[in-house]
Amino acid sequence: MCGIVGYVGKRNAKDIIIDGLKRLEYRGYDSAGIALLTDKGILVRKRVGGIANLENLISDENLSANVGIGHTRWATHGAPSDVNSHPHTAFNDRISIVHNGIIENYAELKHMLVKEHKIEFKSETDTEVAAHLIGLHYEETGSLEDAIFETAKEIKGAYSIVAVAADEPGKLVAIRNDAPIIVGKGNGENFVASDIPALLGYAEEIYPMGNSEVVVLTEDSITFYNSKRKVITHNPLDVNWDIDAAEKEGFEHFLLKEIFDQPNAIRETIKRRLDSKGNINLEGATFTKEILDDINKIYIVACGTSYYAGLVGKALIEKYVKIPVETDVASEFRYRDAIVDKHTLFIAISQSGETSDTLQALREAKAHGARILSIVNVVGSSVARESDDCLYTWAGPEISVASTKAYTTQLIMLYLLSLYMGITKKTVTKKFAKEFVDELLAIPDKMLDYLNNAKEVEKLAVKFSDKKQIFYIGRGLDAHVAFEGSLKLKEISYINSFAIQAGELKHGTIALMEEGVVTIALSTQDALISKMASNMQEVKARGAYVLAIAKEGNDKVKDHSSYTLFIPRVRDEIAPLLSVVPLQLFAYYFAKANDRPIHKPRNLAKSVTVE
Ligand code: AGP
Repeated sequence: MCGIVGYVGKRNAKDIIIDGLKRLEYRGYDSAGIALLTDKGILVRKRVGGIANLENLISDENLSANVGIGHTRWATHGAPSDVNSHPHTAFNDRISIVHNGIIENYAELKHMLVKEHKIEFKSETDTEVAAHLIGLHYEETGSLEDAIFETAKEIKGAYSIVAVAADEPGKLVAIRNDAPIIVGKGNGENFVASDIPALLGYAEEIYPMGNSEVVVLTEDSITFYNSKRKVITHNPLDVNWDIDAAEKEGFEHFLLKEIFDQPNAIRETIKRRLDSKGNINLEGATFTKEILDDINKIYIVACGTSYYAGLVGKALIEKYVKIPVETDVASEFRYRDAIVDKHTLFIAISQSGETSDTLQALREAKAHGARILSIVNVVGSSVARESDDCLYTWAGPEISVASTKAYTTQLIMLYLLSLYMGITKKTVTKKFAKEFVDELLAIPDKMLDYLNNAKEVEKLAVKFSDKKQIFYIGRGLDAHVAFEGSLKLKEISYINSFAIQAGELKHGTIALMEEGVVTIALSTQDALISKMASNMQEVKARGAYVLAIAKEGNDKVKDHSSYTLFIPRVRDEIAPLLSVVPLQLFAYYFAKANDRPIHKPRNLAKSVTVE
């Protein structure tokens, strides 16, 4: 959601902060602002709209400062406006803060601040409450970190805050509580940010922060404190992302680049999980037979795209490991008294590792004794750190709000996990797993070849780009991929799309099939081809177009569709890795034909850190 960048060093803070904020644009935001520590005190500039608006605002000013904080805001309390944008100031403008997350008890605190301290609020934000509390404590203590520690005792919620004080130039102080903050170490300069891409190419080392921790940064020191104010240390994160990976490399949009990144991301994710003999090695999640025999139920819990990957995971684990699996969207799991105990394995899937719903569901399961395994892309993120075992995907930075390579690498991890568990539990043979892995290893080349020859998808997306709704149907694993394809289209094209298990059509949704309607029918599962044929005929018979996705060699599918897109031939279980690609491309070209802001889809944020 919101983005934070802070800098202390010798360089021009403004340039570094603005560049960092631009790298966080993908998180979604509606306004941007900066606070710089100058000789004349703290100078704050902020504007509603894109970072370009902020840049225009300050273009004629000679803003030179070596310390500063910046923010991109995604409105929660108070509409997007100049005044509600961050940074906020307090203590006669001698304190300034930026904040991500939500202060849950802001209303009562605001009431207290107005009544007891006669503070006049300028904005409608919860952030300004935190700013004034820090200001009041600063007045008492004269130390920014003391003021923040004191404020942390009063505010509730998931938040991260970075603050500067005019009376302590050369210092940044940050606190993290359930909202991400990372710290970057440079040579004679240090950084904070809400996400890694902001610091790539600037920081030499990146450090995580734990919950309730405070960090004090000067140009040549980084001091972490735990909630009891004891000095602690952190090891740097093993970040293998580079700046090139976080940039567009000539693609028009990050989304298209990331679709094309998939072969490589898949290759990396598999490669890192095979030993020299080609055996699966899930270092980071070592399930012995005893542990697995003790598990009688698995929950896979996630949100959005990660949840749809989880649906495929359920099918794989039940098939290869023979343990019952339930899937749940995280926001539902938390409030539904799910049956969880120490015999439960809870698998959280999250690209960002910071999704609030997923994190809260994980904590709920943990509190009931479940063992927690997570599949996460962002190293050192909250979900990863709070899990008993974590399997990182190696998708690299996913910048586009619409997730693509995170999904396919999550699938890879679920294939490897289910095979690994199957071998351990002896529900699959090593020979079977080896053949399966060999087939997975061939996917990157097949996918690349497909991507380089996918003109037909673009043509169809453009042809149907005037449609106001698109349906997606499939059976078995195809149904799960249909949900993901439909979500992609919705997110970036803003048209209504609806996915349903093909067999369910006749129980209601078929009423919507009529002349001109477009239904994308996935028919990649050999065992279900004849069933899908009937469903496609039902749709066609009502005058709708059927755009089928089938495996090469299954030419008969053509008899039941208006158009057919063929993906390379693979075993049924692996088909989701390839069948999702035409759906991703279809969504991309459809949105492009409709001139949608693919880079910044409205109302959406990359990382949803509020409930
Ligand atoms: C996917 O395109 C989405 N933008 C969204 O559904 C996303 O998958 C969801 O918010 C979960 O995010 P996570 O994987 O970072 O937890």
